[in-house]
Amino acid sequence: MKGRPRLFLSPPWVGPEERRAVERAFDSGYVAPCGPLVDAFERELAKLSGRKYAVAVSSGTAALDLLMAHLGVDASWTVVAPTLTFVATVGPAHHRGARLVFVDSDATGNVDLALLERALSDLKGGRVLVLGVDLYGRCCDYRAIGRLCRRYGAVYVSDSAEAVGAKTERGEPAGSAGLAAVYSFNGNKIVTTSGGGAVVTDSKRLADHVRKLAQQSRETCVWYEHREVGYNYRLSNLLAGVGLAQLAKLPAILEARRRNHDFYRGLGLDCLPAGTGNCWLTVALLSTRRDRDRMLDRLAKADIEARPVWKPMHLQPVFAGCPVYGGAVSEDLFARGICLPSGTGLAEDDLTRIADVLL
Ligand SMILES: Cc1ncc(COP(=O)(O)O)c(C=O)c1O
Repeated sequence: MKGRPRLFLSPPWVGPEERRAVERAFDSGYVAPCGPLVDAFERELAKLSGRKYAVAVSSGTAALDLLMAHLGVDASWTVVAPTLTFVATVGPAHHRGARLVFVDSDATGNVDLALLERALSDLKGGRVLVLGVDLYGRCCDYRAIGRLCRRYGAVYVSDSAEAVGAKTERGEPAGSAGLAAVYSFNGNKIVTTSGGGAVVTDSKRLADHVRKLAQQSRETCVWYEHREVGYNYRLSNLLAGVGLAQLAKLPAILEARRRNHDFYRGLGLDCLPAGTGNCWLTVALLSTRRDRDRMLDRLAKADIEARPVWKPMHLQPVFAGCPVYGGAVSEDLFARGICLPSGTGLAEDDLTRIADVLL
């Protein structure tokens, strides 16, 4: 294996188009967290998500934080989220003192709807926010979660950070669910701006408020007037240029990710189903935790990056006191699951090299 380059889990796939976009943005003079490319990126994101409005911000976490601020999430709120997710899903709610309740997954890895209903029906009083998550780029059941939220009077926000470009089984775009949804454009995501994110929504009021909060909540007047305190979370115009160049390549990106997924499945590996998702990361399930660790070790020795599945939030020391509904399924996925290299730029040779280790 010596002399061969390291294979990463999900490295950025950028080239001359992105470089030119940064240069053009640079030359335009809009070297700032606003400008025509931010506006154009937002228009494209609204189109992609099937939403009326998009607000581009500096990360997916910032997008979630802005939504928490907009909703006024505080210690009087309960935030219900899948336990199998990245910590950023619940970090902003945690910082605001909300009570977190975690819910297990079903066999797809996404939230278990029966357990979600149980969690919601057990909540008595107070305001409730449900955070849906499109795990590894596979959309959860938007309609079913929407129905539950309406039945139990909860606000629904979709954490579609991992799902840019994915579709639900009914063909709805990722991010089209709930009051609003967030995307991430981190370096490891399907579409990257190096770091970035967005809020998408059909609510003008929400979009306007989030945009205002993201730029220090400055009132529209000549001097600096503030009726509330905001944040500095806007996306740079340079990076919006990168995002636009990436979105132009999205069909090719999705095709490559799907090809990776089909390749791993073709090896006979037991994979988490990708459904009509974007195949952001392909997850293989080994027989036991020991097998998982051995495989991670073998891949590491071959200079191939792979990771365990997200460690469930209810197993995280920081959330030890939080209630969890179920938990065995996500614990099992964590124990046996490996995220395999899934980058857009993987060549046939790279996949063969990975397969040699896996088999
Ligand atoms: C499910 C999920 N939510 C939120 C985020 C946060 O996005 P960002 O890294 O852009 O802050 C990520 C990714 O990093 C994620 O995977």
